[in-house]
Amino acid sequence: MDREKIMKRKILLGVCGGIAAYKSAEVIERLKKKNEIKVVMTPNSAHFITPLTLQTLSGNPVYSEVFVLPKEWEIVHISLAEWAEIILVLPATANIIGKVSSGIADDLLSTIIMATTSPVIFAPAMNKNMWKNAILQENVKKLKRAGYHFIEPVTGLLASGEKGIGHLAPVEKIVKEVKRRLNGKK
Ligand SMILES: Cc1cc2nc3c(=O)[nH]c(=O)nc-3n(C[C@H](O)[C@H](O)[C@H](O)COP(=O)(O)O)c2cc1C
Repeated sequence: MDREKIMKRKILLGVCGGIAAYKSAEVIERLKKKNEIKVVMTPNSAHFITPLTLQTLSGNPVYSEVFVLPKEWEIVHISLAEWAEIILVLPATANIIGKVSSGIADDLLSTIIMATTSPVIFAPAMNKNMWKNAILQENVKKLKRAGYHFIEPVTGLLASGEKGIGHLAPVEKIVKEVKRRLNGKK
């Protein structure tokens, strides 16, 4: 392995099924020079962006399945949970936030999040009513209390065509926050 690869920081990018999934491509582009990125896609995210795109951009295989027959003896969710120095979930759907806050681990991404000891950052994006939903907000609070990080969505144009809170935070801000957390800042 070349020296440059060893020096790179290890970022696991979790992509969920929301319109903002296409922004994950830009995040990879912005972070890949100095970091190694592995992508885990929820099955629903593949309706929004292809594994081929994210695999090509990241230069690594894209993972989606929990139950795969390993080439060598390794359990994929445990090895990825241990590999990641940081996990960025982008876009974080109401669904993944609800699942993680309830301790549900029923797909590869939620299982990795459950198994990791590294920092996890959620970058949510969703319809304004979903974001304002009282249960969603309780779930966010619960996750924050448990030490998970959030890059809150902003007011902007939503997939429905209306303006409101729920638009993914600017990629620039997200990239900065990942770098900051990788450097151990609170
Ligand atoms: C066109 C379309 C756009 C969607 N956009 C979002 C979104 O931006 N945020 C969100 O939380 N859910 C969105 N959803 C709903 C999620 O896809 C749905 O809750 C799904 O179960 C999420 O699965 P995942 O979290 O496992 O990826 C959208 C659904 C459709 C059909």
